[in-house]
Amino acid sequence: MQTHLRGRDMITTQEWTKDEIDTVLDVAFELKRQRALGISHASLRDKVLAMLFFFTSTRTRASFEAGIVQLGGHGAFIDSTTTQISHGDTAKEMGEIYGRYFDGIAIRQCDWGVGNQYIRDVAAASRVPVLNMQCDHFHPFQILADLMTIIEKKGDPRGLTINVSYAYAASYQKPMSVPISLILLMTRFGMNVRLTHPPEFNLMPQYVEQAKENARKARGSFEILDDFDAGFKDADIVYPKAWGCMLTTSDLQESAEISKKYTSWITDEQRMALAKPDAIYMHCLPADRNIEVTDGVIDGPQSVVYDEAENRLHVQKAVMALTM
Ligand code: CP
Repeated sequence: MQTHLRGRDMITTQEWTKDEIDTVLDVAFELKRQRALGISHASLRDKVLAMLFFFTSTRTRASFEAGIVQLGGHGAFIDSTTTQISHGDTAKEMGEIYGRYFDGIAIRQCDWGVGNQYIRDVAAASRVPVLNMQCDHFHPFQILADLMTIIEKKGDPRGLTINVSYAYAASYQKPMSVPISLILLMTRFGMNVRLTHPPEFNLMPQYVEQAKENARKARGSFEILDDFDAGFKDADIVYPKAWGCMLTTSDLQESAEISKKYTSWITDEQRMALAKPDAIYMHCLPADRNIEVTDGVIDGPQSVVYDEAENRLHVQKAVMALTM
């Protein structure tokens, strides 16, 4: 267990050692247990977390706000449109100034080509930890919650096969932060990671290379497929979700046209039957129901989506308690 995490940023799990991530999971399980037993764990009394949002949220806002209060502190929700950011406050100024008011700064900034750099610029100027609530590259707390859920449902993740797959969605060009973060973290835990997507939906090559290296070091495996059905075959865990083809085109109309070629990439009962009989279905939510996934699957016995959503609370509390 690592005990020197005070002051650390969480921007991507890739910047934390495996021992440090094991510590987060250990603390998250302990805090989950204590909450179930009604045991108070107010280790962050009088501490305040800034929660700066440039993008909407159901789970992330609610779970960070509930989590910091359960730890004895307070969460200040800040909608970026109500600040002076659009009138000139820079990332450096936000880091310098909020770092003097608050004990931690959590940020969601998903704009393509902007979000990750913005969060890093705030972190460089901040004297307190900066927590990435999702950017254009990474969604670390979602993926920590996913790993916690896999361990709860399946035990030791080593040797399990996870299919991280594109799925069609009509709503909007979703960030690629979830699949990138999944291939980066699950390869470090010795899993057999399949990345399945049509050719236009490739992920950033530097992270694909990191995932390959992670898999080599952890004695797992990493492969890329382009056949939706093949991705499901004999998998222990299936995680099909939509993301945008931002590396292929920046034109929204063109990307919508490309996506329409893949309307058949929907997770239904027939696809689930290709996976192992005890396979679990995962999705970070929100899902485009009956477009990305049928009601029968997402509401069915193999779906663990609500446990995943709950575990956001526990892993976020663990990281706040360790770093703030
Ligand atoms: N999964 C997730 O991050 O949900 P929200 O976008 O609702 O926060």
